[in-house]
Amino acid sequence: MINLSSPKIWYHELRNGLYLHLAADEKLTKALLDSRITGIAYETVTGPDNSLPLLAPMSQIAGRLAVQEGAKYLEKTFGGRGILLGGVPGIRKGKVLIIGGGIAGTNACRIAIGMGADVTIIDVSAKRLAELENIFGNTVKTLYSNSYNIAEALQEADLVIGAVLIPGAAAPKLVRRNDLKKMKPGAVLVDIAIDQGGCFETSKPTYHSDPIFIIDGIVHYCVANMPGAVSLSSTLALTSVTNRYGLIIADEGISRALLHPEIRSGLNCMDGKLMNQAVAKAHNMDYFKE
Ligand SMILES: NC(=O)c1ccc[n+]([C@@H]2O[C@H](COP(=O)([O-])OP(=O)(O)OC[C@H]3O[C@@H](n4cnc5c(N)ncnc54)[C@H](O)[C@@H]3O)[C@@H](O)[C@H]2O)c1
Repeated sequence: MINLSSPKIWYHELRNGLYLHLAADEKLTKALLDSRITGIAYETVTGPDNSLPLLAPMSQIAGRLAVQEGAKYLEKTFGGRGILLGGVPGIRKGKVLIIGGGIAGTNACRIAIGMGADVTIIDVSAKRLAELENIFGNTVKTLYSNSYNIAEALQEADLVIGAVLIPGAAAPKLVRRNDLKKMKPGAVLVDIAIDQGGCFETSKPTYHSDPIFIIDGIVHYCVANMPGAVSLSSTLALTSVTNRYGLIIADEGISRALLHPEIRSGLNCMDGKLMNQAVAKAHNMDYFKE
């Protein structure tokens, strides 16, 4: 039986609101289980409409920043192709491929179109692709996500932005090392999904101090905490959505707060037990419902 009323637990939570991303980090998962802490992960707090309200502002920022960073690393000095995304009259525009058309992908798309790039967006959800077409009209091309479409689009792309999410689970590897050889030398991959393990096989987490590396001539940008680069905007965006949940926990204590479905959906571990099914599946561990 799990003790839902341990004061130590919610005290810790109040001090340390966090993204945990446990599916991508077995060592951290085991450490949190050993500590018997209660971990409420921002990224799995789920709204009644299945939205992820605490991930959303960071995804908006990461999506917008992905194009800004990608455009920079396309510059020749950084090993990029030397392509200006918007082009100029008489030369072709840079081609941006966005894989995953959710919040991060849509925000990346908005900025890429704003910069005048030629944008293609790929998603596994036909409903989402229809929504994207309604939002952006003919300014983007939409493609269903499958290995054929991804391989074709990769060959053309100057900048590829990985923004897929399977909530709580490790990101699927949609670009394999072999695919890099078919890409244009100096193309840039920005793996926003790196915090969930990355959606490109060759991705590994990097830091703002040394954000890129090159494999097979392809520049990889894989910063796991992209919003940290614009910390003022990020803090303002994040605290405006997390406050509500912090106040519920402070007012009601963790045991009553966990009766709120949104806070309960954020519960990843408690009293040494894994409480999130997708994380348990990612590490082949037991999952406890209650
Ligand atoms: N690196 C960072 O700093 C940072 C910051 C914020 C968010 N993120 C990450 O960005 C990713 C996207 O987050 P989001 O909030 O936009 O998620 P989201 O749920 O809004 O969107 C994810 C999209 O991926 C699509 N998808 C799932 N599987 C797919 C597949 N096989 N092929 C193509 N599309 C697929 C879904 O249909 C959905 O539209 C997550 O991994 C999130 O953790 C990273």
